[in-house]
Amino acid sequence: MTSNANQYTWAGRFSEPVSDLVKRYTASVDFDQRMWRQDIRGSLAHARMLAKQGIIAAADLADIERGMAVVTEEIESGQFEWSLDLEDVHLNIEKRLTAIVGDAGKRLHTGRSRNDQVATDIRLYLRDSIDDILVLIKAFRSALVDLAEKEAATPMPGFTHLQVAQPVTFGHHMLAYFEMFGRDAERLVDCRKRVARLPLGAAALAGTTYPIDREFVAEQLGFEGVCENSLDAVSDRDFAIEFTAACALLMMHISRLSEELVMWMSPRIGFIQIADRFCTGSSIMPQKKNPDVPELARGKTGRVYGQLMSLLTLMKSQPLAYNKDNQEDKEPLFDAVDTVTDTLRIFADMAGGITIKPEAMKAALTQGFATATDLADYLVKKGLPFRDAHEAVGHAVKAAEQKGVDLPQLTLDELKAFCPQVENDVFSVLTVEGSLASRNHIGGTAPEQVKAAIARARQRLG
Ligand code: ARG
Repeated sequence: MTSNANQYTWAGRFSEPVSDLVKRYTASVDFDQRMWRQDIRGSLAHARMLAKQGIIAAADLADIERGMAVVTEEIESGQFEWSLDLEDVHLNIEKRLTAIVGDAGKRLHTGRSRNDQVATDIRLYLRDSIDDILVLIKAFRSALVDLAEKEAATPMPGFTHLQVAQPVTFGHHMLAYFEMFGRDAERLVDCRKRVARLPLGAAALAGTTYPIDREFVAEQLGFEGVCENSLDAVSDRDFAIEFTAACALLMMHISRLSEELVMWMSPRIGFIQIADRFCTGSSIMPQKKNPDVPELARGKTGRVYGQLMSLLTLMKSQPLAYNKDNQEDKEPLFDAVDTVTDTLRIFADMAGGITIKPEAMKAALTQGFATATDLADYLVKKGLPFRDAHEAVGHAVKAAEQKGVDLPQLTLDELKAFCPQVENDVFSVLTVEGSLASRNHIGGTAPEQVKAAIARARQRLG
């Protein structure tokens, strides 16, 4: 960072420079420089429009294009000198451009303000980020489907209230997450439509006196349209809030999966192993292998919720139009992008590194009367009203519990004592395999259905 107090763009109106503290307090270049590609892309589109409309000369455009190529090279190679005096990414780039090409650089800002410029840059940055995140969600979902396919028929206990409830297959369980992350992707796709609208042309707040062509700029930048109102264009950050809300939901789903992974990996449960590359040891306890990655992801969820709250609070009660408060939108937003991006990248990889321990799952299934509902359904099919069947099975479960066995270990006579309708065919219903196979409808856990769901999932992934 270089410093030169006389370089302010607006020096003409001011009689003294700001203190170093105020300079540091008001500058954003430390964090907004990451939008430099978007800033240059936006400036080039604006300059092309200015030239096309005869607002600047063709020679100026040529100079701007040549200068921006140099700036790009300097930033890419790390030679570019970012200056705190120049406040933000926009002024840093414009100043350097002007140093390289002279007056053409000074003409770039014709009909534009940093207010519509920064709003455009954030939207471009966010649109790029959404596209990257969508690719990552797809890779992660595809890893979930692979895992589901491998374990399409592997029985595990399904839980409600963390109590063994009914048998499900591990594949079915993974596909539940496939659905959640699918909705997260849908939300981002929808949000993208509102992100991809062009603020440029709004200038400071009221529009500009030059004969601009906003549609042309929108098209150049691949936007879906222009922001219809100039005041709204420069001031609202609802699209960023919406994006962060979608990220918060995505992280909420990540935290649920993380929690399950952590529990499943606990030796007390022991349903899975995660590949060593996602775990760390303890500095004192030599035996430990800790699921640090899912634990951290669970923790980072709070971080993204926090960024959402920051942005909502930042926007609350802001009068129209642009206020400097909005400069505070970037760090929360960038942090949400980074957190979600890294988390998805790791999870896509980690899903492929999960090994199942089917014996442990099977053993857990014999401990919680997982087929009690199947027995009740069996009795209903023998003519009992469901409530009566429910009660009869409740008694049978109590007896099995006292005897220290699972339902299938009760004898036919013992079962008949609670429900005389029971016959020898009951035992096929009481097995885990029978229970699974009988939930044979769309959305059910029968291995046949899980396989069909996997085929559809692959098609939906495209
Ligand atoms: N760095 C500013 C931001 O991030 C750019 C816009 C500043 N405009 C202004 N009039 N101060 O929002």
